[in-house]
Amino acid sequence: MITAQELRQKYFEFFQSKGHAVIPSASLVPENDPTVLFTTAGMHPLVPYLLGAKHHGGKRVVSVQKCVRTDDIEEVGDAVHHTFFEMLGNWSFGDYFKKEAIEWSWEFLTDKKWLGIKKNHLAISIFAGDKDAPLDNDSKKIWLSLGVLEERIAALPKKNNWWGPAGQSGPCGPDTEMFYWSGEGAAPERFDPDDARWVEIWNDVFMQYNKKADGTFEPLQQKNVDTGMGLERTLAVLNGYDDNYRTELFWPIIEKIKDASGKKYAEYAKEMRIIADHVRAAVFLAADGVISSNVERGYILRRLLRRTIRYGNMLGIKGNFTADLGSEVIFMETYGEIYKEIKEKRQFIKEQFEQEEARFSNTLERGLKEFDEKLQDKIYEHPGLLGKVIFDSFSTYGFPPELSFEEIEKRGISLGTSEKEEAQKIYQHEFKKHQELSRTAAAGRFKGGLADNSEMTTKYHTATHLLHAALRQVLGKHVEQRGSNITAERLRFDFSHPQKMTPDEIKQVEDWVNDTIQKDYPVSCQEMTVEEAKKAGAIGLFGERYGEKVKVYTIGNPVETQHAASPKNQGMIVSREICGGPHVERTGILGKFKIQKEEASSSGVRRIKAILE
Ligand code: ALA
Repeated sequence: MITAQELRQKYFEFFQSKGHAVIPSASLVPENDPTVLFTTAGMHPLVPYLLGAKHHGGKRVVSVQKCVRTDDIEEVGDAVHHTFFEMLGNWSFGDYFKKEAIEWSWEFLTDKKWLGIKKNHLAISIFAGDKDAPLDNDSKKIWLSLGVLEERIAALPKKNNWWGPAGQSGPCGPDTEMFYWSGEGAAPERFDPDDARWVEIWNDVFMQYNKKADGTFEPLQQKNVDTGMGLERTLAVLNGYDDNYRTELFWPIIEKIKDASGKKYAEYAKEMRIIADHVRAAVFLAADGVISSNVERGYILRRLLRRTIRYGNMLGIKGNFTADLGSEVIFMETYGEIYKEIKEKRQFIKEQFEQEEARFSNTLERGLKEFDEKLQDKIYEHPGLLGKVIFDSFSTYGFPPELSFEEIEKRGISLGTSEKEEAQKIYQHEFKKHQELSRTAAAGRFKGGLADNSEMTTKYHTATHLLHAALRQVLGKHVEQRGSNITAERLRFDFSHPQKMTPDEIKQVEDWVNDTIQKDYPVSCQEMTVEEAKKAGAIGLFGERYGEKVKVYTIGNPVETQHAASPKNQGMIVSREICGGPHVERTGILGKFKIQKEEASSSGVRRIKAILE
């Protein structure tokens, strides 16, 4: 038996011995890539380095990356599909290429010191070549030189053996994949890629092309290696399981579901797998700051939690259970050892789960009643109408579409395949429209945010810092920024605080801000490292990496003069925050600050809207 942590460790150790630096997993929420919802592969956060930027770890790095892929959400329930998964990978940024990558893959897989897999249990696929790029003969030769038999090497088309960011321009190239024989007895001599007993465990991608926006390919200046080994699947096959959910990465969650439902895994594997997969994914998403909502990332979290609840109900689990299951994931050693964030954020995760469960049970009853009424009007006889109703149930009650279909089936109404597809199409259409709208709103937000330097928004930026400081003065240091949105007309600020502010607190905050405006403090900006910023007492988002330079805006005395300042003068620093700016030069020009509204944003988060008059 090998544990998940042993597998991660071995992978790191092996590649460290080949000169790689271990780097931590990036967040599931891509830092600087608004085009995708989640990090979907190990290479994703590394794209700038594949394109030539310098990585602080050097030209060889190794990691285990948290990934979420949502295209497969409907397929979860079988033995191998997951929404969240971990990907082991090693990279060369313009350093080693095919020879080393393949030789090291082989060594790690087969050497007794590492995984010690029997050589005759492995098979290989390579890129067959097409109009864009030739057959990958180089890789084939390297595999042959390692003793792999010709019959165990299959050349496959682009759809199988080519990798690049899906459908987009960017670095890409042929790949070679390694398969493990998971069947009974000896592996067949000839490798048949269609035989499902050959399980793909590792993919070495040779990024040697750049796909241009017009769809053509040009050679990359820097040739890279990008590899990916799915932890769940590899762990399962190494331990002789044909079901990833039997591994220690899931089994404790399954046990808990068995206990809560009193049902057997053998009979309800599908439902239990869906619950275990979704809860695990939801824990990691919430730990990376995703908040459940009806759009984009938030909707994925909502959908996972609501599906969990539905499948829990189907198994007869009574009462609220998602937070308990989430807590099972949070305290599993195999995750805690490597992903510290899930324990650190456990309170937030718990709140998210509990709130979503409460919200869902509130709306479930109402929504089902309404849906029932509509079904009485026989809307299911008109697929187009049905699609719209399914979308309304989603947008009003947060019902995932499959829930609506299940409800229809439960009432003994059977939809024909084409009717169902038609309804689904209409639903998708409505859903896309809805996403578009929210994207446009998001783009608008961005425009009204840091990108817009107009005088009014600059003033609101500075007013936001003053508000933040005032809230910490009046309410306490637990106040932290949770969101900010600025237009030329007003500011909006979300912050952590457990209860509604009293009228008196609102007045105190307003007075404090207006007082600092009147005192006409200077606003200054310095660049420093994150560590220096922390030392100087700056608040703000410390997501930046060690050593990285950030801008720090101080309202009051700037940092340099602080040492020379008398104790009396030191009290003049009213706010110090890490921020990209821009800001006004002195507070005096801000005018009069007025809070228009204080309301709940989500649990534990309040929202203030304020204007400058
Ligand atoms: N980026 C490659 C994959 O995800 C390694 O399979």
